[in-house]
Amino acid sequence: MKNSIDCVDAGSENCPCYLALTDDCLICSRLQGKDCCDCNWKGVCIYNEFIQGNKRVNNPRKDFPAEIVKKKYYLDDLVAITLQVGKGFALKASRPGSYIFLRKEDSENFYETPLCVMAADIEKEQVTIAIKVISSKTKTIVEAEDRLMVRGVYRNGILGINEITDRDVKGKKILMVVKGIGLAPAMLTANYLWLKNRVDLVIDREKVSEDLIADYLGEGEGIIKYMNLADQIDQKELKDLLIRENYDTVIILASDHFIKLIAKMVKDTIPQAKLAVSNNFNICCGEGVCGACSVVNSKGQTFKMCKCQNVYLGDLL
Ligand SMILES: Cc1cc2nc3c(=O)[nH]c(=O)nc-3n(C[C@H](O)[C@H](O)[C@H](O)COP(=O)(O)OP(=O)(O)OC[C@H]3O[C@@H](n4cnc5c(N)ncnc54)[C@H](O)[C@@H]3O)c2cc1C
Ligand code: FES
Repeated sequence: MKNSIDCVDAGSENCPCYLALTDDCLICSRLQGKDCCDCNWKGVCIYNEFIQGNKRVNNPRKDFPAEIVKKKYYLDDLVAITLQVGKGFALKASRPGSYIFLRKEDSENFYETPLCVMAADIEKEQVTIAIKVISSKTKTIVEAEDRLMVRGVYRNGILGINEITDRDVKGKKILMVVKGIGLAPAMLTANYLWLKNRVDLVIDREKVSEDLIADYLGEGEGIIKYMNLADQIDQKELKDLLIRENYDTVIILASDHFIKLIAKMVKDTIPQAKLAVSNNFNICCGEGVCGACSVVNSKGQTFKMCKCQNVYLGDLL
């Protein structure tokens, strides 16, 4: 069967990755142990890169200590942390969908927590993340005062990322629907898109703070509406907005419950609209190795959602 998986790291500076070492590349048939070449990949040949690179992982992501330059509590359980990470790292992290792993310096590796980049300041060489404090990992991270261990940058924080970063996005009519800590990746994405597009925003502020929005959401063309997405009257208003504006793309950054609810609303009202959604899978290594993020479809195929794009979106429709 031909491989139709889209790997977020394929062709990037982190390709070939660890999966190539064990004949488990998601894209390249040669690096899946086959003796023929029958992949759908249209970029630079991954097999050739692997051989030319002496069969090594390209630019493996390594932990490094990053200084905490700012830490602000917006609510008792909502903290924004700004880290000094270097220019190259901040540049890579400025792309929508970027996330990093953080842990306290003296914590074991299993405390590493995936967190979306909310803001990246390339000049100051800093990234900011917002943490909703829940249990052992997030509680431990926010205890840190001086430094945090950082690993990244990882790219698969948003499924359907091409609908945001492709060149032909310019001029498209885009709506972002955001709830809770989905606000963190949403603000990076909105600020990125506003450089070239009009973007409308529907924000449910439950469990997040207006001050956080004021501090990190930039300015751009488009309306911003505050709604309670659990409320039926507001849901009707959102439905009317979808019909009236006939968006080309709807980006939903929320929990799986609200992704499903709103994706269905989009399908029912503007079925031609493209979707992008937050990646809410359990992510542990981010490298396609540990299997924490695996899903199995009805044909028995396994997908590693820390790397794969587009496979899960189909299930929503
Ligand atoms: C790509 C990605 C980006 C994320 N970005 C942010 C962010 O910007 N800000 C933020 O506050 N949170 C973010 N999260 C969620 C964050 O990783 C979890 O809230 C955190 O791991 C919870 O750990 P805990 O020990 O505090 O709580 P736990 O009690 O262990 O978990 C609380 C909830 O978080 C989920 N969770 C636990 N571990 C993981 C994991 N490794 N991957 C995904 N979900 C997990 C659990 O399923 C549960 O629903 C992101 C998750 C992913 C996958
Ligand atoms: S998180 Fe480890 S394989 Fe995806």
